[in-house]
Amino acid sequence: EKGTYPHYMLKETDEQPLVLRKIIQKYQNEDGKLVIDQDITDAIDQSDRIYIVACGTSYHAGLVGKQFIEQWAKTPVEVHVASEFSYNMPLLSEKPLFIFISQSGETADSRAVLVQIKELGHKALTITNVPGSTLSREADYTLLLHAGPEIAVASTKAYTAQLAVLAITAAVTAEVKGHELDLDLVKELGIAANAMEALCDQKEEMEYIAREYLSTTRNAFFIGRAVDYYVGLEGALKLKEISYIQAEGFAGGELKHGTIALIEQGTPVIALATQEHVNLSIRGNVKEVAARGANPCIISAKGLDQEDDRFVLPEVHEALSPLASVIPLQLIAYYAALHRGCDVDKPRNLAKSVTVE
Ligand code: M6R
Repeated sequence: EKGTYPHYMLKETDEQPLVLRKIIQKYQNEDGKLVIDQDITDAIDQSDRIYIVACGTSYHAGLVGKQFIEQWAKTPVEVHVASEFSYNMPLLSEKPLFIFISQSGETADSRAVLVQIKELGHKALTITNVPGSTLSREADYTLLLHAGPEIAVASTKAYTAQLAVLAITAAVTAEVKGHELDLDLVKELGIAANAMEALCDQKEEMEYIAREYLSTTRNAFFIGRAVDYYVGLEGALKLKEISYIQAEGFAGGELKHGTIALIEQGTPVIALATQEHVNLSIRGNVKEVAARGANPCIISAKGLDQEDDRFVLPEVHEALSPLASVIPLQLIAYYAALHRGCDVDKPRNLAKSVTVE
């Protein structure tokens, strides 16, 4: 039930810190150590390449998950959009392992790939919010998101739950493979949950940003580099699906190869700056668009922030920054849609789970 909330999307956005804390608890043993089924870590350990297959928001979570798995567990990862993979299968490695990410566990495009790769005799893990869903039943292994029912068409808490479960999977596998992590994941996830809570308490500010940047615009850009680019893709998807503003997530450095031609006087460009190694370069990209008249809105990590930044995120470990940085983007999309009088929970032309190919 929505309770006192005007929309499920707002309620589900607010639930994110709670869900994260629940995930930490569900994936801990009595000694407080993070654990996942040994069959799963063995399957990752024995594989020479992981193929993450998903759609929409779950695909965007997969892009961030690739970073965790490659950096911590040191297994190469490819991330694919399910509807492309099934008709244009890449050349597979010798020992592939498939990870399907799906909130509903019912997405037909993802299922089509699962059926194909099972026929080829490959193993699959499904990361889903719905126990007993089709993708869970048909895969060899399942990891649950424990996010509770997600009703709004726009996915929010499932995305951050997917990030958390992917991070835990990567960290536990890293340990099995003997790679040392440079962070205490339980502690850092706890800090991220607190940051999420602080962000959910700043709704007024997000409403203000939505009004300031998005109330009359036809289009908007979300730019970032590295993991910020992936979060930008998710921010753009949120905005377009519920507010119908044409939005594009873009890699900062790629703008000058064509897309910068779309920048006009006042075009909103929301830029994420949470990664130290690309902080200067994304700021260079912001200058490039500002010089062409764009209206930049920089959302930055504490410590990397500069004078004109519009919003500074509470402190989170750099690797886990998407858990925090996505929340302003979800809320900005929500308020932009609300200001335009859109049906936030049930946007036009969309269904919660897409069970046709
Ligand atoms: O249930 P799934 O995670 O498989 O759904 C995938 C997409 O259909 C879904 O994430 C969609 O993109 C959302 N409406 C985005 O908010």
